[in-house]
This record gives sequence, structure tokens and C-alpha cells, in this order.
Amino acid sequence: MKIITLENAAQIGEQLGRYYVDFVKAHPSCVLGLATGATPLPTYAAIVKAFQAGEVSFADVTTFNLDEYCDLPKENKNSYYTFMWQNLFQYLDIKKENVNFLDGNAADYDAESRRYAEAIRAAGGIDLQFLGIGRNGHIAFNEPADAFTDEPFRVALTQSTIDANSIYFDDAPMPHYAMTMGIGSIMRSKQIVLVATGESKAQAVKGMIEGEVTPRLPASVLQQHADVTVYLDKAAASLLG
Ligand code: F6R
Repeated sequence: MKIITLENAAQIGEQLGRYYVDFVKAHPSCVLGLATGATPLPTYAAIVKAFQAGEVSFADVTTFNLDEYCDLPKENKNSYYTFMWQNLFQYLDIKKENVNFLDGNAADYDAESRRYAEAIRAAGGIDLQFLGIGRNGHIAFNEPADAFTDEPFRVALTQSTIDANSIYFDDAPMPHYAMTMGIGSIMRSKQIVLVATGESKAQAVKGMIEGEVTPRLPASVLQQHADVTVYLDKAAASLLG
């Protein structure tokens, strides 16, 4: 794992946004794995700024998002579909048909999981995967568990995740289930960047980097990936030895 510690979230966004722009310029037909939540917002803002300055095109880029809530219409303001269009895709020249999400309202969750896994494989796999980390060490919605998962699946969210994300649900109850890529789907990405900002992530970051590899702290599995870069702000890095 390569660790890069910067002063704050804004600096990470600038640096990582620049990395994405250079990556897409070098690999115009790349496949990006994308995350939602507060963590990627400064990076997405930097990408949009560069696009608007005419520096890069996403016309041939394909994306796969990590996860989506179940039982929430995709038009709801808190769906990850809406989040991605509002915060990134609407500003870019990306083609709608190249944007992929898990369907949290699928009639058959197993079939939907297989469809997504197959779509990732058919696209040639993920070249560069963005990850945030939960306070409990989750990546995507792989919550602490007895074993590492592999392909996409439907997950029951833990109380820690419900507590962290329910602040966004002011008009409807927060879903307790989600569809998520599995750990295997994430680990098969060729390159991974994980960003953690803020003091609330410091304990999970310490476990991820310095602890044993265990499904009880799912992000720790990244120690076994050959190409991971972790971007931390000072607060998230504060417990590292
Ligand atoms: C979101 C996702 C989650 C978040 C994590 C951190 O697509 O997969 O694992 O990255 O819950 O969320 P924030 O960034 O809101 O602290």
C-alpha cells in the first residue's frame, strides 16, 4: 500500500482529481469504478473543473458504481444513481449507456448480482477503482462479516452505517438493505485508490493499514492487492504508528 497524507480533503481532491484527468487522457476507453458519499466529492469537483476547462473527455469512458440502496426509487435524491448524476455525470460528456449501476429495486437480487458481475467482466474489468471507507472499515457496502465476499450481492446494512448515512434521509426512512459489489469484485480491479478524511475514519484507517487482514475489518483485505494508493488527511492518519 502506498500512503499519501495531505493536509485536508480539499488538497486530496485537487491531487486525485488531477490523477484522474491524467489517467483518462492516457486511457480514454478506461473502465472506472466509482464511489458515492462525502469522500469523493472534492475529487469529482476537480474532475468537473478540468472537463469544463476542456482538458479531458469522458466520451469513451465506462463506469461502474460500487453500490445502490434497495427499495429506494432511483429518482429519490438519496439514491446513488441520483447522487452520481448530480455530482459528476451531468457535467461530463460521458455516454448514458456507458454508466452502470446495480439495480436496488431488482425483482431478483441474485440475477441482478450475476448481471452486474457479467457486465464488469464484459467491459474487461475495472482499471481504476475509487473507494471510501466506513467508520466500521467497510468498503462499498461490505460490512464486517465472518468471511470475505466475492461477487455483487444484497447486504443488510449495519447499525454503524445506518447511523452514519441516515443524516441524509430527512424525507424518508433510510433503507436497511443495499446491493453492493463484493470484495472479490473490488480486488479484481487493476488499480485502487482509497480516500479517508476526517477523524471519524482514523480507527478504521489504522486497522486497514496496520491491523491483521480480517473480514471483521473488510478494508484490511487491500493489504493483499498489488496496486493500492491510500489518500489520507491529517485527521484520518492521526492514529497511525
Ligand atoms: C459509497 C460506498 C461507501 C462509502 C463509505 C464512506 O459508494 O461504497 O463504502 O465510501 O461509507 O462514506 P462517506 O464518504 O460518506 O464517509
